[in-house]
Amino acid sequence: MSIKKLSKIQPQSFEFSKDNLQKAEEEIKKYPKDRKASAVMALLYLAQNQNDNWIPLAGIKYVANLLGIPYIQVYEVTTFYSMFNLSPVGKYFVQVCTTTPCMLRGAKKIVDVCKKHISKNQNELSENKTCSWVEVECLGACANAPMMQINQDYFEDLDENKTEEIVQSLLKGKLPAPGSARNRKSTAPEKERKTLLQGKNA
Ligand code: FES
Repeated sequence: MSIKKLSKIQPQSFEFSKDNLQKAEEEIKKYPKDRKASAVMALLYLAQNQNDNWIPLAGIKYVANLLGIPYIQVYEVTTFYSMFNLSPVGKYFVQVCTTTPCMLRGAKKIVDVCKKHISKNQNELSENKTCSWVEVECLGACANAPMMQINQDYFEDLDENKTEEIVQSLLKGKLPAPGSARNRKSTAPEKERKTLLQGKNA
């Protein structure tokens, strides 16, 4: 999203809901008084959850005030970690892993499906505003490459067709069942193979 567009949709103010303020205070209490800045990640995560999965500038300033630190220090954290979104994401937020194991197993085709059906560029909403996608680094599921994360769930062992099916379903407002597209149990071999030899003969 362009800076011009983004500046137009920034809310003027942000504050935690009663529940989240209580949670934030509990997080802050976990650290010595002169080290309360250490709660920054937890507070940003609360702010993001409260604001449809993205953190506005007003939220960054609010968290900085709460922690008594310069807001640029909080901004630095939000721009360093890819789990913090600084522009609106869809109700279905697709994160495609494009690190080496996933790339070698076909992540580019998954990216192409996202470009074709969600939006031409990452970090943009689909036409019907339900979805957005982004490329990310390793999500720790390399044994099930290629894979993508949608909201909190992992979709693994993907290919072009399966990804297309999942994305079409998201665009219609439905989140399909997560897990392996080849029905593997976690990272277990397919067809319940127990040895390499079995694998060779299967
Ligand atoms: S490389 Fe994709 S999950 Fe690790």
